[in-house]
Amino acid sequence: MNQSLPDMWNQQFINDPYPAYRQLLAIEGAIHTEGVWMLCHHADVQAALRHPGLGTTQLDVDAALVAQYGLEPIVNARRHMMLFTNPPDHTRLRGLVSRAFTPRAVDRMRTAIEHLVLQLLDELDDGHIDLISRFAYPLPVTVIATMLGIPHDDLELFRRWSQPIAAFIAGSTETEADVWLRASDAAREMAGYFIVEARRRRAAPGDDLLTALAQAEDGGDRLSADELVANAILLLVAGHETTTNLIGNGMLSLLRHPQQLALLQQDPTLLGNAVEELLRYDSPVQYTERIALQDTTIGTAMIAEGETVQLFIGAANRDPQRYPDPDILDVQRADVRHLAFAHGAHFCLGAPLARLEARIAIGALLERAPRLALTDEPLVWRPNFALRGLVRLPLVIGRGG
Ligand code: HEM
Repeated sequence: MNQSLPDMWNQQFINDPYPAYRQLLAIEGAIHTEGVWMLCHHADVQAALRHPGLGTTQLDVDAALVAQYGLEPIVNARRHMMLFTNPPDHTRLRGLVSRAFTPRAVDRMRTAIEHLVLQLLDELDDGHIDLISRFAYPLPVTVIATMLGIPHDDLELFRRWSQPIAAFIAGSTETEADVWLRASDAAREMAGYFIVEARRRRAAPGDDLLTALAQAEDGGDRLSADELVANAILLLVAGHETTTNLIGNGMLSLLRHPQQLALLQQDPTLLGNAVEELLRYDSPVQYTERIALQDTTIGTAMIAEGETVQLFIGAANRDPQRYPDPDILDVQRADVRHLAFAHGAHFCLGAPLARLEARIAIGALLERAPRLALTDEPLVWRPNFALRGLVRLPLVIGRGG
């Protein structure tokens, strides 16, 4: 096929992928280029995410290189994360982890999240602040670490470990070798920590997620030590950068659309719908990949076994065939269902937690600090094609309305 494709996979695309998406969405049907399928339309991305013929991609790494550079900890952890497994392993792992990470466990966090949000807001001084480092980043990592039962004193350690692993999982555009090495060091240290802690919780159970993971059993089946470590790491890292980006991208979108922000301030009951619209409008996860486990047809794409399928979630959420005026931010949008948390077997396990955190965080920000303003400082986006988020969100903050 000979479609003219936009210039992608560069920093300009990272800064603003939407012009490229509009070009891609204007192309009828699926795009096949250099042996790779690019799916952008909502119907295709949704169908691909739930099709059993498409599986998550495995790492294609040279065993000699892994041994030479000591990368086993991260390679091993990735292999056992549910996000990178297919049925039947995926079904078993997701079932076991879901027994620990329940909606009840999430709901029990509500008061703690409210307190943490107020505490972080209280610590914000009037004047110039960076909303990412002072608020949007510490919130999700503290929440999930607290759920896991990580003592407060170890939080800083976890923040340090989480970042390189998140960059590795999401495929940062930084020099690949550096990302791998840093992620592997972090995974080694984190695995050591979780193994000791899980043993401790088995002997003296606590009221936390790590205890629940250590105890999770299903018909006599339980998580192996490798699986427990890998999925504890996944819960920790899958949630924090993505939720940070939902709060960061969400506040940026609202501040750029003062009428929408004013609507929300006047009517906080719109908050739930607004968070969904913010997830659709500037999705924290823009992209994922699948590989064809067998010949598979999605819309007009005839995908051969072994071919890679690129799924542009960020484009699907702006598809004019699915959403009226897709490039308009409308916190009152009538049917705002989106693919920001994916769809099908790998639908985000943390969606209820992410939604709860974002509603409390954005609600409190709007209520407590009605005079928020963007500054002239240029915005810098993280060098990552899959995760869309700001390095900093500089704001001027003034209290008291
Ligand atoms: C706004 C925040 C979030 C967004 C946009 C998001 C998005 C996603 C997406 C798109 C996937 C599927 C990826 C794929 O199929 O390739 C996913 C999977 C997953 N997410 Fe999230 N996520 C968020 C927050 C969280 C949180 C807070 C947690 C947990 C604490 C979490 C845990 C997971 C897990 C465990 C999976 C793997 C599920 C599976 O493979 O069955 N996520 N997420």
